[in-house]
Amino acid sequence: MKPEMPSQALPRPTEIAHQLLAGVVRPGARAVDATAGNGHDTVFLAGLVGESGRVLALDIQPEAVAATRARCDSAGLGGRVRMVHGGHEDWDSHLAAEGWEPGCVAAAVFNLGYLPGAGKSRITKPATTLVALERALAWLATDGLITVVCYPGHPGGAEEGEAVRGWAAGLAPKDYQSMSYGYLNQPSAPPFLVAVRGRRPGGAVPGS
Ligand SMILES: C[S@@+](CC[C@H](N)C(=O)[O-])C[C@H]1O[C@@H](n2cnc3c(N)ncnc32)[C@H](O)[C@@H]1O
Repeated sequence: MKPEMPSQALPRPTEIAHQLLAGVVRPGARAVDATAGNGHDTVFLAGLVGESGRVLALDIQPEAVAATRARCDSAGLGGRVRMVHGGHEDWDSHLAAEGWEPGCVAAAVFNLGYLPGAGKSRITKPATTLVALERALAWLATDGLITVVCYPGHPGGAEEGEAVRGWAAGLAPKDYQSMSYGYLNQPSAPPFLVAVRGRRPGGAVPGS
């Protein structure tokens, strides 16, 4: 049977990220939203992990923490989500505080840039993003998934996107697959997705 396209338009990078996550995050899993923002990704992950799973959602802005909490509560999913007001660069301490252990994270979601509707003063930065991505690898399950949506359109965003792409390109192919997906023929600086998937010991890519 041929897979169906959802519409005539190609899916956006955020939609591809969700499609990949839906294939990896199972009921009972643990997942991290490293940039909670307005909570759309957190709610999506909370739906995937089911009642027995847990999502840890981080953001440095109190209004993002509040917005995400409200969105999860109104979706009836607040009980599956632990909100943390803090930076993803302090990943180790936030996850350890929850009693989580390295290797337990099925998926980590990064949606870079600024909080929509709150100005561009507090954006993700390459230095802290790269620290968080490195730490995410250490906590990822062997066949886990990291998705990073990069936004080159705001000041500093292009450099951050290149830094993420370079980081992913440098991962050892025996341990990880990394790929990128984005528009090629749009004006301005369209967003793109970088996805990283762990390989099981022995080199097999899950599902292949
Ligand atoms: C594009 S928004 C995220 C959108 C969100 N995923 C959603 O579904 O609504 C980026 C968020 O990253 C947050 N952020 C910036 N630096 C951060 C850091 N070091 N650690 C955690 N979050 C950070 C910003 O405060 C902002 O809310």
